[in-house]
Formats: sequence, C-alpha cells, structure tokens
Amino acid sequence: MTKSVFELTFSEAKAELAFLKQELRRHDDLYYNKAEPEITDWEYDQLRLRLNEIEAKFPELKSESSPSQKVGAPVSSTFSKITHKKPMLSLENAFSSEDLEDFIERVQNFLNTTTNLEFCAEHKIDGLSASIFYKNGQLTYAATRGDGYVGEDVTDNIKTILDIPKSIDYTGEIEIRGEVYMSINSFTELNKQREEAGEKLFANPRNAAAGSLRQLDAEVTKQRNLGFFAYYVDGDNLNINTQIEVMEFIKKLGFSTSEYKLCHSLMDMEKYCQDTSQKRQNLPYEIDGAVFKLNSLELQNRLGFVGRNPRHSIAFKFPAEEAETRILDISIGVGRTGKITPVAILEPVNLNGAMVSRATLHNFSEIERKQIAVGDTVKILRSGDVIPKIIAVTKKSGNATFAMPATCPSCGADLVQYPGLIDLFCPNHYGCSAQAVRYISYFVSKNCLDIPGLGEKQVEEFFEEGRIKTALDIFKLQEKEVDTPLASKPGWGKVSAKKLYDAIENSRNVTLARFIVSLGIPGVGEVIAQLLADHFKNIENLQRAEKADLVELEGLGDLMAEEIYAFFRNEVNIKFIEEYKTLVTISHKEKSVDTNSALYGKTIVFTGTLSKLSRNEAKQIAISKGANVSSAISGKTDIVVVGENPGSKLKKASELGIKIMSEEEFLNIGSI
Ligand code: IVH
Repeated sequence: MTKSVFELTFSEAKAELAFLKQELRRHDDLYYNKAEPEITDWEYDQLRLRLNEIEAKFPELKSESSPSQKVGAPVSSTFSKITHKKPMLSLENAFSSEDLEDFIERVQNFLNTTTNLEFCAEHKIDGLSASIFYKNGQLTYAATRGDGYVGEDVTDNIKTILDIPKSIDYTGEIEIRGEVYMSINSFTELNKQREEAGEKLFANPRNAAAGSLRQLDAEVTKQRNLGFFAYYVDGDNLNINTQIEVMEFIKKLGFSTSEYKLCHSLMDMEKYCQDTSQKRQNLPYEIDGAVFKLNSLELQNRLGFVGRNPRHSIAFKFPAEEAETRILDISIGVGRTGKITPVAILEPVNLNGAMVSRATLHNFSEIERKQIAVGDTVKILRSGDVIPKIIAVTKKSGNATFAMPATCPSCGADLVQYPGLIDLFCPNHYGCSAQAVRYISYFVSKNCLDIPGLGEKQVEEFFEEGRIKTALDIFKLQEKEVDTPLASKPGWGKVSAKKLYDAIENSRNVTLARFIVSLGIPGVGEVIAQLLADHFKNIENLQRAEKADLVELEGLGDLMAEEIYAFFRNEVNIKFIEEYKTLVTISHKEKSVDTNSALYGKTIVFTGTLSKLSRNEAKQIAISKGANVSSAISGKTDIVVVGENPGSKLKKASELGIKIMSEEEFLNIGSI
C-alpha cells in the first residue's frame, strides 16, 4: 500500500521523489521522443500527482529540475525553433469532486474572496497543443508547445489543417492556441492502412496526431486529416473580459471550439463532468477530461502561476480502466541515493490506448502483503489516491512470494532498513557501482554539467570499461584515450568522440548554481541551488555557511538546511569539491532586477489578516518587486505590512523602529 504523503518521513519522501523523477523522465522520453508510451496517461498523471503531493508536503525537496516544473517534450533538433511570446504551460489535474472543491477554495483563498466564482468548462481534447500567429490577418507562423518555452516551427504543417484559417479578419498581431487532434475515424483508417503496409501502429489518436504534425513533409500531414479546436487568444487591443468571450471571439474568427459551458457552482462543474463523461463515447474525437477555467480574465491574471501550472484553471481527468496481466519478472533498481525499488515487469497490456509493461512495487512490504510472485496474474488499476498499482493478484502462479533481497544487486553490500523507513537502502554510497553510475549520469545531465552525448547508457559503458570511476574522471576521459581510443569503440567515431570532448571542455565553464546542483546534495535542485548561489555568491562562502545562515534563507526548511550543512562537512565531499574546483571555472552573475521599485532589496514581514489580498498574493507581489519575504521580525526587517489583528509582531516592529505599512500603502507601492 502506498503511504499517504502525510505518513512519509523526509528521507522516504526524498527517495520516492528521486524514483518518481526518474520514472517521469523515462516516460517523457518514451512518449515524446519515441512515441511508444509504456503506461497510460492515467498512470502517468498518477505519477505526476504523487510527485506534486510530495513536493507540496516537502517544499524543500522541490527543485527547478523537477518534472513538476517542466512541460511537455524536449525540443527536437529537426525543426527550427520558435520562442513562445508567453510560455505554453500545463494544467494541474483533478481526479475527483473533492479535488475540484479544493481547487475552487484555493482560487477563492488566493483572491481573498468568498463570493461565488464562475468557471468556463471545456472539453479536454486529447491531442497536442499548438500556437498560431497571425499578422494583419495572415497566418505567419505556428509552433508546437515543445518544452513550454521554445517550440518547433510547424507552420507548413499547420497550414494543411482545414480547421485552421490561413487568413482571418483581424488587423494587428494575434495569437491563437488550441489543440491539434486526430478524429477517431481518421485514426482507425490510418492504422488500418499502416497495418496493411506492415508499418508500426499508432497507440492512440493523440500519438497519431503528434506524429502527423511533426512530419518533415507537410504533404504527409495534409493526408492525415488533422483537426483543431481553439481555446485561447492573445492580441493587441482585444476587448475581451471572460473566457466565454474568448471562445465566442475565436468562433467569429472562423475557428472551431469544443463544447463549452459557463458553470456557476461546484454542482454545475460536477454535472458538466458527468454529462461529458457520458457523451464521451459518442464524440468523433477523443477527450480525456474536462477543463475548468476561471471565467474572468482579470482574475486569471491576478492568480498567476505556480510552477508549470496557472492557478486559474484545472483539468478534470476521467478515470482509466483496469486491466489484467501477468508478472513476467521483478527487477530491482538501485537509485542514486541507494534506494532499492522493486519493479514488476508485466506482460504488455493495453490500458486506455497505451501499452503498459511495468508497474512500480514501491517496496518489499507491499510485495509481502500482497504475496506477489513472478508468474502471478494481477489486476492493475489507477488508484483513487496516487500511483498506479497492482491492486490484486487474480490468479496465483503457485510460485513463492518474491523474496526481499538481502544484498545490493549491484555491489553485494548488505542492504539496510533505516529505523522508521519502509524502503531498503544500499548503504555503500561511495563504493556501489550502481549508485556511482546513477550519480555520474546525473552529474553530466542537462541540469548539471549538461554534456550532450553522455546518457546513462554511455556512462554505464564507460564505467564498466574503466574509463571513468568517479564523476570527475569525466574531465580526464581524453587523457585516458591513449590506451583505448574512444573513436574506435563500437557506436563511436572520430567525429562523435571529438564532439564529446569539446562538450566536456565547454562544461568546464560552469555557473555556481549548476556547480551546486551537480554536487547531488539530496533535495537541492535548480531552485534551491540558485537561491544558495545568489545568497552566498561563491562556493567557499556556502561551504562555510552555518546552519543558522542556511535556515534564514527563504524557501529552505530546517531539514534542508541540516542536509546542506552536513553535506559540506563530510570528508569525502570536501575532497571531491576541492578536486572539482581545480577542474572547472565557476562563475556567478548577480541577478538583475528592477531596482527602481521602493520594495527592491527590502525585507518584508506580513502580519495580521489582509483584506484585499491573500498572504500568498501579497508575497508574490513583494517578490516580483525584488523584496525578500520573511516570516519573523528581526533586526534585518525593513518593512512590516500590517493587516487586521496583527498581534505581537506589530508591537515588536514598533519597538525595533521598523517601518510599518498598511495593506493599502503596500498595494500602492507594489503596483509601481
Ligand atoms: S488550456 C496552461 N484548454 O491539456 C495551459 N488545454 O495539461 C492552458 N488541452 O497543454 C491550456 N484541451 O495541450 C486548455 N480546452 C482545453 C484543452 C487543453 C486539451 C491540453 C493542452 C494543455 C494540456 C494541459
């Protein structure tokens, strides 16, 4: 049984997050790059949901490199790139009425209101999003979402879609966003043709739509009969105030929209979900849920974003189906932190359009409890709460329950179960090959040294061949070349070897934030590393930092501070950093912020109940003006913003002679 996030200890959460991140990245790659998903969307969502829940419970574990901060696919190198004017982000998911209710409450809380809010309900089209630009009425370019910031230029392909007008009645610049999809009929027909031609079949209409849009030959796209539903507009001088008006305006321009409806209450929203779920079977296109968008665009703006999601909208996802399959094997994974994870290898089974061939078996007590054995037939299902799982053994194979290993499958060390933790760990952190390979792969990955050409597979091979033993050996790869030239290794040649060495040389210029991320301090990803870099300015200052200095930083909890402090006091880490520093050049650029704001550089404390703003919104405004927000008053506090019933903080602020500001004054300054 998956533990509720509230029962997780810090280290359990950390270990599970590491696992979830690895899984999500693997599935992203399978889905976006290989177009061969192994799990259903539902299962994928559950992984993301669990990740979000753990990050919400343990914010100190959240990093910018987390999949929760990323949207969609890495940009492919085949198409030229287009930077989106505004990021194309993603929606948070809801799976139940309670989730919808929580969403409404969160929106109300942020806006500090109890009034009934209106939401525009739309179909959640199961396709891929696209952005289309028009200048003076002419379609000028179109892009896929890509990684949310930079997409692929698919202008020629988009122009072949009949639903998309090539010219519209609008002067000036305007951007339309929506979903490119393939109708169920076109999908069935396409797969029939592919089967006859002996070609690989598309798993579902969405994959087919994605594969069809990202064709180098637009003629192929044209033959695929793609459709488009628009749901977003951004342009000069649009006098539009609500999402409903957006949909009406878009229709007038000549675009198609899916069915939408204004909801005045949670009940309306629930009804829309029920109705849509029933209609779903008869729709000519696939939908995987409903989207609810706060109707007022002004309020949408105020709400802003959290991570990759706008606070103003949510996607209600329909549940997936159950499936039955057989466990072919159980494999044991060893993570970067030494966490041991059993994974069930399944006889591939189709679950809602995608082939499922793996299921995580979080830990051995779950295997024990369900008496799971290789060869058993099992029922897999999305669970109401979190990770998709094997919910029951439906037919016993008669084989013995899979036994918990006593030793690490990689290094043979006796596994340990730390007191209070369910998971098993390989304690051999500095001698286990599997952990070393995972760490080195992390060290060279995008968020750390970013050395293209070095993935987990290459790292594993280099490690096995003895080319590298530690992460720092990466910088010595070329020296070792003398004995065994990389260029003569299968799969490599002169050009690729040179490319790799050039990339390694390039990586020697590293920013302080990346340097910190690459150390692999548990829980320290891009966001925290940037925070540390901005605060401490160089690695020596950070190494010297006392626990108290770390705790004071906004965003770092006690546990995180403890973890960082301990990391820099570990002998092995100290030696590693000393050598690492001799191999690279670390740079740090001071942040450039709008220094004109009166709040810039000030440390602000909020106290009492604010009437116009929620604490959260007030905090976001302060941060956006370059202020630091602190929860406690100290000698460093510059401003205390006071709401109703301020309590002891106001007294303390007056005693210390700190500037006191009303909510009104804060709002006036914050808006400049
Ligand atoms: S609004 C901030 N409306 O679902 C993203 N998205 O995870 C705003 N989608 O990326 C998107 N139907 O690809 C929106 N009616 C709809 C949608 C829709 C499908 C997709 C879209 C988006 C993803 C959200």
